[in-house]
Amino acid sequence: MRVRVLGSCAGGGLPQWNCGGPNSQRARAGDPAVPPRTQPSLAISTDGERWSILNASPDIRDQLTRFPGLHPRPGTRDVPLDTVVLTSAELDHVIGLLVLREALSYRVLSTHWVREAILEHNAAWRLLEAVWGSTPLDIPVSLDRNGALEARFFPVAPKVPGYLRELAKPHAETTVGLRVVERETGARMAFVPGLKALDSATLAELAAADLRFVDGTFFSEDELRALRPGAPGARAMGHLPITGPESSLATLAELPGRTFYLHMNNTNPILDRDSPEAARVAAVGVGIAFDGMEIEL
Ligand code: MLT
Ligand code: MN
Repeated sequence: MRVRVLGSCAGGGLPQWNCGGPNSQRARAGDPAVPPRTQPSLAISTDGERWSILNASPDIRDQLTRFPGLHPRPGTRDVPLDTVVLTSAELDHVIGLLVLREALSYRVLSTHWVREAILEHNAAWRLLEAVWGSTPLDIPVSLDRNGALEARFFPVAPKVPGYLRELAKPHAETTVGLRVVERETGARMAFVPGLKALDSATLAELAAADLRFVDGTFFSEDELRALRPGAPGARAMGHLPITGPESSLATLAELPGRTFYLHMNNTNPILDRDSPEAARVAAVGVGIAFDGMEIEL
C-alpha cells in the first residue's frame, strides 16, 4: 500500500488568505521552517498505477498537477483515479468534487447521510449524482477497480458541518473514519481527519491499524481565540486537541505502528518545524504529515 499526502493542512491551508497569524505570515515570507501547505487530502494505491483519493479538498487541482501518479495518460483523457471517498460533508473535504467536474470517470463514495445532506442542500453537487454511491457503516467495499484495497467506514462522534446546521441532524453517518486494508498483505490504515472524541471504539480502530492519519487541527483547546477573539474552543469545533486534559497525543503515542497528524489548522504551532510543540510531538514518536509525503506500508 502506498499513501501520498496531497494536502496536510485543515480548511484554509497555510498561509490562509485572511490570516495574519505568525504561521501564515512566515509561510508567506518563505520561511523554510513553515512551508506552505494545502488543504487535507490523501491518495492511496497498491501498485502506484491506479489511485483513490480520500477527501476532495478545494486545492485538488494544484495537488493533482503536482502528483504525476494521477496525471492522465499521455495523449488521452484517461486518469488513473478509481474512487473519491468522503469522510464527512465538511466543505474542505468536498469542494474538490466541483473542481473534478469535467469528467465523471471515477466513483464517489460516502455514507448515505453525507450524500443526501450535500445533494439535498447544494444544487451544484448534483452534477456528481450519477457517480456518487453510498455504503453503510462497517461494511467492506472495494476501493479500487481491481479490488486490491478493501475499505470500510466506521463511525466517530458526529459533527454537523456549520453550513448544514439547522438543515441536517447529527447521525452516526455524519462523520466517519475510514479503514483501508490491502487484501493481499493485510496491511491496514486508518484515516480520521475529524475527531471530536477518542471513544473506545474509535481507539480500537486506530490501535488495530499499522498506519494512521489522525485529526491534528489544534495543539491546544483555546488556540484559535488568540487570533480570533470569541472563537469557540477546539472541542466545540469538533476537534480533540493534541495536548491538554483528555487530548490525543499521549494516547496516540502508545499505539503500535506509525501515526501522523493531518488537518492542522493554520494556528497550530506544530506547523513551525522548529517549535517546541513540534519537538514535543516528535519526541513521542508521532509524525506530522506534510504535503508530498509518501508512505509505503
Ligand atoms: C472543520 O474541520 O471543523 C471544518 O472544516 C471547519 C470549516 O467549516 O471550515
Ligand atoms: Mn476541516
